[in-house]
Amino acid sequence: MTNHRIALIPGDGIGTEVLPAARRVLDAVAARHGLAFSYDEFDWSCARYLREGAMMPDDGLDQLRNHDAILLGAVGYPGVPDHVSLWGLLIPIRRGFRQYVNLRPIRVFEGVASPLRTAEPGEVDFVVVRENVEGEYSEIGGRMNRGFPDEMAVQEAVFTRAGVNRVLDYAFGLAARRGGRLTSATKSNGIVHTMPFWDELVNERAQLHPLVPWDQEHVDALAAKFVLDPARYDVVVGSNLFGDILSDLAAAVAGSIGIAPAANLNPEREFPSMFEPVHGSAPDIAGRGIANPLGAIWSAAMMLDHLGHPAAATDITDAIAAVLAETSVRTPDLGGSAGTSEFTEKLLELL
Ligand code: NAI
Ligand code: MG
Repeated sequence: MTNHRIALIPGDGIGTEVLPAARRVLDAVAARHGLAFSYDEFDWSCARYLREGAMMPDDGLDQLRNHDAILLGAVGYPGVPDHVSLWGLLIPIRRGFRQYVNLRPIRVFEGVASPLRTAEPGEVDFVVVRENVEGEYSEIGGRMNRGFPDEMAVQEAVFTRAGVNRVLDYAFGLAARRGGRLTSATKSNGIVHTMPFWDELVNERAQLHPLVPWDQEHVDALAAKFVLDPARYDVVVGSNLFGDILSDLAAAVAGSIGIAPAANLNPEREFPSMFEPVHGSAPDIAGRGIANPLGAIWSAAMMLDHLGHPAAATDITDAIAAVLAETSVRTPDLGGSAGTSEFTEKLLELL
């Protein structure tokens, strides 16, 4: 029996509805693969912020440090500004644990209608690798002359050789493992310092991965091609901002943002990695028990893969594919009328 200690952070809104579903699926698959999970649940959230003035306690990272992985629902809720919830919880975890790879797979499943007529089920299967700890999401900058007509804001993007190289190496390695191709998202025609630097480093790192074919595209053109011809992509690597936008776009191409998973990886495994659905807390449907749990469940499968249990992970992704292809049970975002627990129940049956 292999034991894993998992930190659960349900967070806000539908985060608290989809995480229990993921946990049920994990427990079901554990029994069959000789795994045992022990969970520690943390109530860190906007509710905690309103009660205690902080999203998580001062020693939050220390409380997480000795877990094998972190499974997170979503954070953010009306009443707490989004930059407070993001910088008070998610970003400190990503940065404090050096989770510099944000991995977001995209698949159009049989039985899910993509909004694109060009997206055939089975043909769209790619991964966005987002740089997760530097780039445009930086703390460097400031505001001046607040409230005056000459009020101004400056935010500096930070790209380091070490930070770009390590995410590029991960992306080239992933493309090699998938036997595929790497596409780099750039914008070196408009952003004339950081993006040419990014391009130079892509060229350099490509020499170390001579067997991986690669190309680069400007991010605006890439966004258009995601819509026109999503099947042509395999691994797409981008900076923090570009990767964030491209992966949400790609998740929508796949039919619902409710399906898309994400991993925040510390590839060196010095710190726990964190797994979370791409979607947010969805205040518009929170509390109604109709959230799609597949994004959280697929994230749990990515966690199993990272923990060294690929067969258990595949069991889960196969069950996701089966529930979509073989049944008409699904949540309203996918055109069905089932609730979160009924949908989860059906998936467990097929598992
Ligand atoms: P959102 O992803 O919460 O919702 C966007 C739309 O998609 C809504 O109409 C929602 O009902 C729908 N949706 C999302 N997940 C769904 C699911 N599992 N099943 C069915 N429908 C689903 O994004 P939004 O509205 O921009 O943000 C809401 C809050 O979530 C904000 O406070 C934001 O900061 C936070 N957020 C947190 C993230 C995180 O924790 N990683 C990521 C994105 C947003
Ligand atoms: Mg996003």
